[in-house]
Amino acid sequence: EWIVDKNVENLQSCTQIVDAARFLRDGETVAFPTETVYGLGANALSDEAVGKIFIAKGRPSDNPLIVHIAEKEQLREIVASLPEKATPLIEAFWPGPLTLILPKTDKVASLVTAGLDTVGVRMPDHPIALALIKQAGVPVAAPSANRSGRPSPTTAQHVLTDLSGRIAGVIDGGATGVGVESTVLDVTVDPPLICRPGGITREQLEAVVGEVRLDPAFLVDAAETPRSPGMKYAHYAPEGEMWLIQGEDSQVKEQMRIMLAEAKRQGRKTGVIATEESLSYWERQPEADVVLSVGSGAELGQVAQQLYGVLRQFDEDHVQFIVGPTFPRSGIGMAVMNRLEKASGGRILSV
Ligand code: TXA
Ligand code: MG
Repeated sequence: EWIVDKNVENLQSCTQIVDAARFLRDGETVAFPTETVYGLGANALSDEAVGKIFIAKGRPSDNPLIVHIAEKEQLREIVASLPEKATPLIEAFWPGPLTLILPKTDKVASLVTAGLDTVGVRMPDHPIALALIKQAGVPVAAPSANRSGRPSPTTAQHVLTDLSGRIAGVIDGGATGVGVESTVLDVTVDPPLICRPGGITREQLEAVVGEVRLDPAFLVDAAETPRSPGMKYAHYAPEGEMWLIQGEDSQVKEQMRIMLAEAKRQGRKTGVIATEESLSYWERQPEADVVLSVGSGAELGQVAQQLYGVLRQFDEDHVQFIVGPTFPRSGIGMAVMNRLEKASGGRILSV
């Protein structure tokens, strides 16, 4: 049964939310919008329910899930203790795109945490997500609602493309606002450690709790195994071979054209990740078959919001070879570049 409604108004009595909450209580999986990306939810207290998420997504079972709550009081059920720095972070950023890694209680289904003694928790900043969790009356485990390895879904249509027929339903809340996933921050260590860059920036975190470290596994060419189990998998990747070109603008364009021309000689369909600023340039280049803009290169928030949709569109268009520029790694740019590095499988060329 599909639950689709773009204009949800009275959320508490909205049929879609009431139905979706019932599915969650009955141990089924339901996709719903958050401010970051769409999540695929199940009752976080039930191993049987959570197991259905892993099956629907084809997700490796050693990759733990984030538990979503609607009220701070729900922490008591799932978290054993709150490290000192957790409280000011919760005050500052919840509801919002910050996941905190915290010591877990035994009530959390063991499949959620993949056997770890910690659990990732966040309170999403989205009225539909909050209403759904409240109605369900249970904490909701929810990874991004994509088939494992694909770009995360930022629209209900993306969810259906990946999971139609494999889940109980999806609540359509339109396109998500942030566009990349939450920041995952381990506060069981001090200074806290960013396990995955995301919607809340390092700069924002440091303004509240002082020094925050970055998992060294993010540095390009890092040999370390990431702390966040999910970060070790090939992720967010379009089907085409993707390269990022880093350097001065005119040299980047020149290098991109050389590579596009070579790919075309090999008979491949080519694509370019453009910005608002470079769009008309690329539309004039015969080497570029599909040109998609991620928004203004000066507004990294726009790039974050549009990135996954663009990566998915290359697949829809059967693009086999993709080139794009890099972006500054500060602010939300850190999350943007992390996703681009993953999507490209680390194929970054400096010119
Ligand atoms: O924005 C988001 O976080 C979205 C929406 C739906 O809330 N959810 C999401 O979930 O991105 P998922 O499952 O795609 O990513 C969860 C990430 C993975 O990288 C996972 O390894 C990490 O969080 N994680 C979860 N629990 C953890 C733990 N106990 N320790 C370290 N990392 C953990
Ligand atoms: Mg994911």
